[in-house]
Amino acid sequence: MKKERQTIITGIGHYLPPQVVTNFDLEKRINTSDEWIRQRTGIIERHYASEGIGSSDLGVEAAKLAIKDAGIDVAEIDFIIAATLSPDHYFPGIGVLIGAKLGLPGIGALDVRNQCSGFIYGLSVADQYIRSGTYQKILLVAAEVQSSNLDTSDEGRDMAVLFGDGAGAVILEPNSENDGRGILTTKLFADGHYASELWMEKPSPKDRPTFSPLLLEEKRFFPRMNGRNVFKHAVEKMPQAVFAALDEVGLTIDDVDHLIPHQANDRISLMVAQKLKIPVEKVIRNIQHVGNTTAASIPIALDEAVKEGRIKKGDIVVLTAFGSGFTWASAILRW
Ligand code: COA
Repeated sequence: MKKERQTIITGIGHYLPPQVVTNFDLEKRINTSDEWIRQRTGIIERHYASEGIGSSDLGVEAAKLAIKDAGIDVAEIDFIIAATLSPDHYFPGIGVLIGAKLGLPGIGALDVRNQCSGFIYGLSVADQYIRSGTYQKILLVAAEVQSSNLDTSDEGRDMAVLFGDGAGAVILEPNSENDGRGILTTKLFADGHYASELWMEKPSPKDRPTFSPLLLEEKRFFPRMNGRNVFKHAVEKMPQAVFAALDEVGLTIDDVDHLIPHQANDRISLMVAQKLKIPVEKVIRNIQHVGNTTAASIPIALDEAVKEGRIKKGDIVVLTAFGSGFTWASAILRW
């Protein structure tokens, strides 16, 4: 009987735009303080893209590094999945733009709109395509430019201090070695009842016209959240998603070598670890120097940990995310 193919990450890369913005820099633009940001979020600095640079540009840079890391030729990629909440344009999505910039016209490009959970959602889609034999080499990119649409007034300062720009990318292929390494499972969840708890409400085609002076006046085009409720759900839902994934593959928390939670807020990551009863040394945390990069946060943290030699071949790596939607998700990889 033909054994089912297992999907493995064969290449990974990330890219952060060069401009570093510290909390002290933000103090000059926002009614905030380094102390408040560090205490509440753990963030010390983040990167901002410069004018004219979109998430597709950051995504392409990360993609090139992942392609190089996989040791494949760009022309071998047969499908693109791109996750972002900050596409260059209202439409089309960034998947097609990344394909064009990489010189890959003609292959399919799918955009995933699942915000902070976007990378794991994309991973899950890619896994199904590889397992079924539909595609052989998928490029999954997660990229965000959020710095251009932050409300720096007191009304928006809770969110404005959190976000950073960046991108991460992976190449996914069937595991030709059949050694049990790769994606063991992915679990996806959503509850749209909470959509307005964390969203960018406007522009909306429900409004006629969509773009009006009122849109600018009401400032509803800025991302908004109910921070406390987001926090509460994040620390409940991520552990639930991790336990669901572990149960499915017959592993326990003791089998986990590394946990990579979406880097939303360091306090959230630490509380998730506490609820999972996983030692903090096993938790990968890089929010201190990148901020919250939404869909890109997990692949950036994963790549850093791999390149630092912290994640080793055969390690069990658990990913989990929570964000707007609400959406939440988990994945287990044997690296
Ligand atoms: N700088 C200084 N003060 C700020 C501030 C900032 N950037 N943002 C908010 N404040 C103030 C508030 O105005 C409030 O002042 P008040 O007590 O005088 O009314 C005070 O700080 C506390 O605000 P609150 O919103 O209750 O703080 P908090 O402890 O809930 O922390 C977050 C705020 C945003 C750090 C926290 O809610 C959080 O991390 N939520 C989840 C965020 C997240 O992960 N979002 C992305 C999802 S993926």
